[in-house]
Amino acid sequence: MSIIPLDVAAQLLAQGAIVGIPTETVYGLAANALNGEAVAKIYAQKNRPQFNPLIVHFASARDASTHVEWNARAEKLSATFWPGPLTLVLPRKTDSTISLLVSAGLDSLAIRVPAHAKALALIQQSGTPLAAPSANRSGRVSPTTPAHVLEEFANLVPVVDGGACEVGLESTVVDLRTSPTILRPGSITQEALENALGESVPFSPHDEAIAAPGMLKSHYAPTLPLRLNAETPLPGEAYLAFGASKGTLSLSESGDLQEAAAKLFAYLRKLDTAPHTGIAVAPIPMEGIGTAINDRLARAASK
Ligand code: TXA
Ligand code: MG
Repeated sequence: MSIIPLDVAAQLLAQGAIVGIPTETVYGLAANALNGEAVAKIYAQKNRPQFNPLIVHFASARDASTHVEWNARAEKLSATFWPGPLTLVLPRKTDSTISLLVSAGLDSLAIRVPAHAKALALIQQSGTPLAAPSANRSGRVSPTTPAHVLEEFANLVPVVDGGACEVGLESTVVDLRTSPTILRPGSITQEALENALGESVPFSPHDEAIAAPGMLKSHYAPTLPLRLNAETPLPGEAYLAFGASKGTLSLSESGDLQEAAAKLFAYLRKLDTAPHTGIAVAPIPMEGIGTAINDRLARAASK
């Protein structure tokens, strides 16, 4: 298995196979969301705990809205940010044809419309919404290039090449079932959400294991120990620099947080090998998308 053309991938997805697909955030491991057996292949391939619910990707807000109890906030946020790196959690309609396995027993559904031409084409050509978690084995960092996906699954999963992901960080997840809360920070910031809704949208330190199991602290973990807010590396450590600091690799020499987000997972992967004995990461400012970067780093460090 390797890189496959888009039309072949669309056909495979329609037939119930799993395929690595590009999105603007990270690569997804996609399956026909209407087909429970296809969805089960995702969990098996990822070695993911069964209780971890998946995001369903649609080609339009209109398609997405038919599967959930849509509301005024969903209307506003989808109009402002879709297609784009925002996932909305809403009550699932009882007559939704989405496989129950997708939401892993929850009566809610996480939905988004990705901003990537190939992702949208795959949804349209396969004729089905696509359930897709990030295309990494459980507990590993998310892939941002087709090569990462091939490597994650030892070439067992075919992949559509959509280039390197522009955003490089998973979507912001917002729970809209009651008053809005951020379940997972991402490149769409709290401020942008609050501006769009005209109300506060707090980050909710919710019961992680139930509301968003993917937020478990150990979710994003390189193999080597990670040391955060390090001004300099210790002997043996690789150093992931940012801004003025010099390192083994730099997330952004100019101190650009967007660039840092796009490179974060790729660089953690690169540094997660011998002869390094650990990875030290430079301080990343807690502003804008820097909040999400620090969130991911904190998870990766707390194994
Ligand atoms: O950018 C992204 O969101 C990528 C691309 C492929 O779209 N996908 C991704 O999926 O990051 P995944 O499965 O790695 O993370 C999905 C997150 C997890 O934190 C999961 O627990 C949460 O969304 N989630 C999914 N369904 C949910 C639900 N019904 N209620 C609450 N949280 C949910
Ligand atoms: Mg993931």
